[in-house]
Amino acid sequence: MAITITMGIQKGGCGKSTTTGILSYLLNQNGYKVLAIDMDSQGNLTELLSEKPSNEFIEKSVLEAMQQGDVKEYIVSIGENLDLLPANNFLATFPRWIYTGKTYLGETVPFRGNPSLILDHVLDQVRGEYDFIVIDTPPSLSEQTTNALCASEYVVVLFECSNWCYSAIPNFMDSVNGAREFGKRGTKVIGILRTMNDVRRSDAKAFNEMIEEDYPDEVFQTIITRKAPVGRLSLYVFNQNVELKQALEQYENFYKELMKRVKGE
Ligand SMILES: Nc1ncnc2c1ncn2[C@@H]1O[C@H](COP(=O)(O)OP(=O)(O)OP(=O)(O)O)[C@@H](O)[C@H]1O
Ligand SMILES: [Mg+2]
Repeated sequence: MAITITMGIQKGGCGKSTTTGILSYLLNQNGYKVLAIDMDSQGNLTELLSEKPSNEFIEKSVLEAMQQGDVKEYIVSIGENLDLLPANNFLATFPRWIYTGKTYLGETVPFRGNPSLILDHVLDQVRGEYDFIVIDTPPSLSEQTTNALCASEYVVVLFECSNWCYSAIPNFMDSVNGAREFGKRGTKVIGILRTMNDVRRSDAKAFNEMIEEDYPDEVFQTIITRKAPVGRLSLYVFNQNVELKQALEQYENFYKELMKRVKGE
């Protein structure tokens, strides 16, 4: 049965999509069968893994999977044992569909049930087929995010050492706790990953220390620093990327720490 891990924080630009893509890749390289799910209408994870514009997945995305109640129809194969449930801009209409029953195509597909458990419910169709399901979320505590949290056993919180990210943390933790109480998967934070660190900045260093004091058991020891090859992953992606080794370097230690925690659970 798949273990499902969501990457989240409602602050934008903290490395959620980059980390989801790299984690999917590393899990796959380590022999696991992986389903990556893009729950962000920006479609960044979709573009990173598929190497195609997210507009290519209009009417063929996670949104339709949830509206039609059929996941398998919308899964895209990325490589051996690596699949993707893609997203595009129309995923932004997900809340409207939930509350009005109207799809972005003007059709009426009445929704009944629990608005936060739609993804969890449809994933039951494929959980037996994967070792890991990893989910990217948008920079908001929207329906997409609550659905991802309620569908997951574990959450990796992305912390980009800045004041606005620091102030986002308490509400995000509340949302994870809400998903644990409300959902069926015992949703819990498996760790906080400090990302995009500018090693020359004293404020980043201070926030690194503050988050460690606040959440000593949760923070991973690995700290991801700002590095051009990681930033350029969105451009050069995974296949035939000559600087992939440098892009993955820091993430190897995060991967080891994460797997140790998951296996120790
Ligand atoms: N370690 C890093 N070093 C340099 N650039 C990075 C690093 N991690 C991510 N980036 C770049 O920073 C930007 C934000 O990263 P990313 O898109 O992964 O964040 P996000 O949290 O998914 O953003 P959003 O909230 O918009 O979904 C991207 O342009 C990405 O390529
Ligand atoms: Mg993103």
